[in-house]
Amino acid sequence: MYDFEDTTSTVRVTTVCVVGAGYVGLTAAVCLAQLGHRVVCVETNRERLATLQRGEVPIHEPGIEELLTRHARSGRLAFTDDLDVAMTGVSVALLCVGTPPGPDGEPDLRQLGRAGADVVAAARSDVLLIVKSTVPPGSCEALELLAAGHARDGVRVVVASNPEFLREGQAVWDFFNPDRVVVGIDEPAMQSLVTGLYPAQWPLLLCDRRSAELVKYAANTFLAVKISFANEVAQLCEALGADAHHVLTGVGLDARIGGAFLSPGPGFGGSCLPKDLAGFIAVSQSVGQSAPLARAAQTVNAQALAGLLSKLDASLGSVRAKRVAILGVAFKPGTGDVRFSPGVGLGEALARRGALVRAHDPLADPGSPDVEMVADPYEAAAGADALVIMTAWPEYRELDHQRLREVMAGHVVIDAVNVVSIGEVAHVDYDVYGVGRGLAMDFAPVLWPPLEWMLDVEPSDVAASR
Ligand SMILES: NC(=O)c1ccc[n+]([C@@H]2O[C@H](COP(=O)([O-])OP(=O)(O)OC[C@H]3O[C@@H](n4cnc5c(N)ncnc54)[C@H](O)[C@@H]3O)[C@@H](O)[C@H]2O)c1
Repeated sequence: MYDFEDTTSTVRVTTVCVVGAGYVGLTAAVCLAQLGHRVVCVETNRERLATLQRGEVPIHEPGIEELLTRHARSGRLAFTDDLDVAMTGVSVALLCVGTPPGPDGEPDLRQLGRAGADVVAAARSDVLLIVKSTVPPGSCEALELLAAGHARDGVRVVVASNPEFLREGQAVWDFFNPDRVVVGIDEPAMQSLVTGLYPAQWPLLLCDRRSAELVKYAANTFLAVKISFANEVAQLCEALGADAHHVLTGVGLDARIGGAFLSPGPGFGGSCLPKDLAGFIAVSQSVGQSAPLARAAQTVNAQALAGLLSKLDASLGSVRAKRVAILGVAFKPGTGDVRFSPGVGLGEALARRGALVRAHDPLADPGSPDVEMVADPYEAAAGADALVIMTAWPEYRELDHQRLREVMAGHVVIDAVNVVSIGEVAHVDYDVYGVGRGLAMDFAPVLWPPLEWMLDVEPSDVAASR
């Protein structure tokens, strides 16, 4: 599927210990092996480790299986849970463990602290820890202090930052086609140990550690702000009778703005944006700043789910004891990841309100008692009073709407990702509510304010004439 072959030329071949075999660690492990490095990947989850040692891939990520098979054979890639084995003769470790949000949005860095301490304890000579996990500024310096306390006599510990920017569903492609490689290191003599992992022609931003750490937080916060802005514009479109698709396409065609992440929808989810936005706010707060823009993005995002619930309430009367079908529980198409997924959030919110929820997804299964998963979208829709499309999977653009309508009990369709072509379903006895598509209403109120602003009269006269 991918052409990996032209990337092996200019790396400084290194033996690397990759710690954590999730989306980031497993991608890094197979891709670094492809670049010519020797990689030992350490994973503490026994089930995940056993799967990998059998040569199977525990996540859906195109390209990983091919590289895993290739480099298990080439001898450049191995999996273990034994750090003593992994760190034998190894002085570079890439930390790719989880940094989930704590209850107040503060990042939970315990996995990172533990992994760093364990790696250093296993190291027999000077060790460079490279933090790929997303962490708040100051974490590399803190980890250096913490880990040094676990080092054997005479072993020196240096920590560098090298945040990861891959997107789930295209992680391998992103690894080999980075917009930038960011490396934060405060020891010039050790820079090349990090930068040499990657081909020299890849765009490199070399800086101090705090800046590198903040690049990742700031980038994800900006993406979250962009999505929330699109959703705010979409709400305005609904109220004004405009079409958010046209509006945001027109906005995004401006080269200074760009169209990526400007689609309205059910709000952002996944394991990164909500967590990193909350982390950005927590970090700002920790240094006495309030991050008003980031907070606003969070508020708008929470309103997206509330907006869907009120559309359902408005169209069904109440959702209590109603059957609702959800199409799509993955947080975005192309992945089976359901962490902080809007589809799962909606299912659980509906169940709390007494609705019966049945869902379909081509890949994902949240394993939630509130959401019954079925194998086919038409089975999910059977008997449903309302259907909600929550993930823009390509197959949901190809649905047979006549057939869906025949199996449904009701006629309400909430298209939270705007995949239904209104023109193509005009003949179906449906009420389709998209996001940011103006609803049929009396638009006269929209006309009065501009008229008032045009006329050379006192505003009070216009008001009196209405
Ligand atoms: N998923 C993404 O799209 C993405 C993109 C960029 C950055 N990130 C960041 O990268 C980090 C990892 O994300 P992820 O999605 O790969 O997480 P993940 O939860 O999928 O994977 C983390 C893995 O680390 C393992 N692990 C934890 N402690 C360990 C230890 N001491 N030794 C060995 N293995 C250990 C876990 O068992 C798990 O398999 C996070 O900080 C995340 O914010 C994620």
